[in-house]
Amino acid sequence: MLKKVGIWGTGAYLPERIMTNKEFESMVDTSDEWIVTRTGIRERRVAAPEEAVSDLSAIAGARALEAAGLAPEEVDLVIVGSCTFDTYLPASACLAAWKMGARRAAAFDLETACTSFIYGCAVGAQFIATGMYRHVLVIGAEVLSKFLDYRDRNTCVLFGDGAGAALLGPVEEGGFKAFDLGADGSGGGLITVPAGGSRMPASAATLEERQHYVKMNGKEVYKFAVRVIGDASQRVLDRAGWRQEEIDMLIPHQANLRIIDSAAKKLGLSMEKVALNLDRCGNMSAASIPVALDEVVRAGKVKRGDRLLMVGFGSGLTWGSMAVEWNPGQR
Ligand SMILES: CC(C)(COP(=O)(O)OP(=O)(O)OC[C@H]1O[C@@H](n2cnc3c(N)ncnc32)[C@H](O)[C@@H]1OP(=O)(O)O)[C@@H](O)C(=O)NCCC(=O)NCCS
Repeated sequence: MLKKVGIWGTGAYLPERIMTNKEFESMVDTSDEWIVTRTGIRERRVAAPEEAVSDLSAIAGARALEAAGLAPEEVDLVIVGSCTFDTYLPASACLAAWKMGARRAAAFDLETACTSFIYGCAVGAQFIATGMYRHVLVIGAEVLSKFLDYRDRNTCVLFGDGAGAALLGPVEEGGFKAFDLGADGSGGGLITVPAGGSRMPASAATLEERQHYVKMNGKEVYKFAVRVIGDASQRVLDRAGWRQEEIDMLIPHQANLRIIDSAAKKLGLSMEKVALNLDRCGNMSAASIPVALDEVVRAGKVKRGDRLLMVGFGSGLTWGSMAVEWNPGQR
């Protein structure tokens, strides 16, 4: 018999430094007005030079454990979802687990870009459902600022740094009702960091050509996002047996306010039922959804029994959605 799984507690961490749109005006040909009207972003957080993904992860993870009332030694598995890991070797999850004091935990990284938190929850939930593990900490964390080309106005204004976490455990009722995950590698070139891997190893030439930074075809990603966010949402609602009007809160990936608007419209939701941090945080990739979740939880905007729909999309291309009946605080 598979166990039911839910979220026991959440946590988040945003780096201290706030970077406003205005600061980009001296770097590239852009304006606060363009960024706000085309994306909805006003400012974002930027990690300190010494901060990497495992540092942000450890703080957000520790806060989730505190919210769940769990000691670090009780964690069985730590999953860090990101696309801006500390290093290729070792996995950032090992470092984050160690920094948190989760000494008993297994740990691994998961990379499906902006969809990593949804994939991470789906993967983590399987371990608990089968009984292999009891407490799985899923973290979405990014330090994108170190992978941005501050000469490329198409990308540098869009992203931000941060981390969010959720402690997963068995529940008597509620919790995860359904997942929908997808991938389409034919669009792999639409958002990419071309160099530094086995396809194009780092060299003086790749550095010179600025191939170690995020490159994106914004227009094509936009079209993909609008399509997939609606489809993935509807599929998971069908699987959960929920009607659109039964959704209490939509927690979407935060890439562009116009994309979020279109998703809300498709689902017949007013914007009061949509969690937003894009204006303050930009696109934090894997961290966007768990940070937004933590914010609405701590603000008391979700209550026991509420039906939450989380939906993400990103490089890969990947997409994913999950239906969660909010039922935290179990032990
Ligand atoms: C990137 C994005 C904001 C661009 O908005 P847009 O309205 O589609 O703008 P376009 O791509 O049509 O570009 C219009 C013009 O604005 C320019 N532009 C791009 N970034 C700019 C900036 N920061 N400031 C000023 N102008 C900018 C473009 O160069 C283009 O100029 P051109 O017409 O002279 O070539 C939008 O396409 C988007 O959000 N895409 C999805 C991105 C995304 O979700 N990424 C992450 C996925 S996880």
